[in-house]
Amino acid sequence: MTTLTPILTRTWDQADSFTRAAYEREGGYRALRRALGMPPDDIIQAVKDSGLRGRGGAGFPTGMKWGFIPQGDGKPHYLVVNADESEPGTCKDIPLMMANPHVLIEGIVISSFAIRANHAFIYVRGEVLHVIRRLQQAVAEAYEAGYLGRDILGSGFDLELVVHTGAGAYICGEETALLDSLEGYRGQPRLKPPFPAVAGLYGGPTVINNVESIASVPSIIDNGADWFAAMGTEKSQGYGIFSLSGHVTRPGQYEAPLGITLRELLDMAGGIRAGHRLKFWTPGGSSTPIFTDEHLDVPLDFESVGAAGSMLGTRALQIFDETTCVVRAVLRWSEFYAHESCGKCTPCREGTYWYKQMLKRLEAGRGEEKDLETLLDLSDNILGRSFCALGDGATSPVVSSIKLFRDEYLRHFEQGGCPFDPAASTLWG
Ligand code: NAI
Ligand code: SF4
Repeated sequence: MTTLTPILTRTWDQADSFTRAAYEREGGYRALRRALGMPPDDIIQAVKDSGLRGRGGAGFPTGMKWGFIPQGDGKPHYLVVNADESEPGTCKDIPLMMANPHVLIEGIVISSFAIRANHAFIYVRGEVLHVIRRLQQAVAEAYEAGYLGRDILGSGFDLELVVHTGAGAYICGEETALLDSLEGYRGQPRLKPPFPAVAGLYGGPTVINNVESIASVPSIIDNGADWFAAMGTEKSQGYGIFSLSGHVTRPGQYEAPLGITLRELLDMAGGIRAGHRLKFWTPGGSSTPIFTDEHLDVPLDFESVGAAGSMLGTRALQIFDETTCVVRAVLRWSEFYAHESCGKCTPCREGTYWYKQMLKRLEAGRGEEKDLETLLDLSDNILGRSFCALGDGATSPVVSSIKLFRDEYLRHFEQGGCPFDPAASTLWG
């Protein structure tokens, strides 16, 4: 039985957890003092040895990414924290920044020191004003204490940290669109390669990491790479925050080693809401193929979720019980993708529009069976043919729901309307 490992979430129930004083009281900034006494390459090696993989969804090895930054190139290096959390169902970085912004700042200073960056940015969603204020206050506190600025803690290392607010476009969470936005342009994905590690912000070598990835770094330096690597599974090491939402008794963030199962998480979260049963769920947000109650025991690590036909993604577990119409859920997600498509490439721009149109008709019971083949054909023309991951992600709920719930689509046509009562699901506004 896997148990919770509260590390990043340990102090969230303390009223002053977001202050520098509270963070220092719990041993905060101890890892920074240690890191500043280490050769930067040893920090990169420790992060490699820990097995930490990107917590923003893709799971790319963090230490390896840092190792791509060319050294001795004479160019300025940058660290950019992707705090543009927007994936439907994903709600881990925002509560983390609200409850413990200093663990992120400490991680930023250590990571910047390791990659020899003297400028770092937190790119945060523009709508979350409370988070922006909290971050700005914490950054000011860190400057006051000498954790940021010139000659940090007498080490000779300088770092300027800027909190930059986006304007609320989901595409700006795609790392190269984020860079365009940060440079003042309209946020649209750039062609990769070159990857940002080689040519990123202002053309300089840039590490872009998710909030949770960077916030995990102090615990690795403090406790050692082996400590981190001993948690989780062989290839998905360490702990992570799992966000449970929807028809669950106690929704929220549960921090546990990778490889925990939904069954175990539901035990901790009080189960599915009383009197109901699990129907379908997303393992990693709406961009990952849906699962059903048959997948309750799939270990939530990158490999096992992949082998079962989905992706671990952002560990955003959206839980739906038997009152929920899967077609309606897929329609809602598709409306989101159609709205957020940046329009740069045809398969995604046109494809997500047609998803929305077709699913609206199908959900209203005005479709026929051959429409499902058209939807799958459309998906074939989006997946792998879009310029960035947004288009690919949009196909996940459509294709997986047709595969797993074909009968439910057919019932809409047979009955000439949705067989579910939207009020019973309680999820629709
Ligand atoms: P990716 O696999 O293309 O890249 C992952 C990271 O590794 C990037 O930082 C990339 O620059 C780096 N990388 C990959 N190959 C490299 C190489 N050869 N050299 C140097 N660096 C390299 O994935 P991508 O498109 O960045 O992210 C997609 C993921 O984002 C999805 O899996 C999805 O789960 C997640 N996502 C998260 C959201 C959120 O709100 N947190 C929103 C939407 C998607
Ligand atoms: Fe823009 Fe969608 Fe193409 Fe990505 S896949 S570049 S979001 S149109």
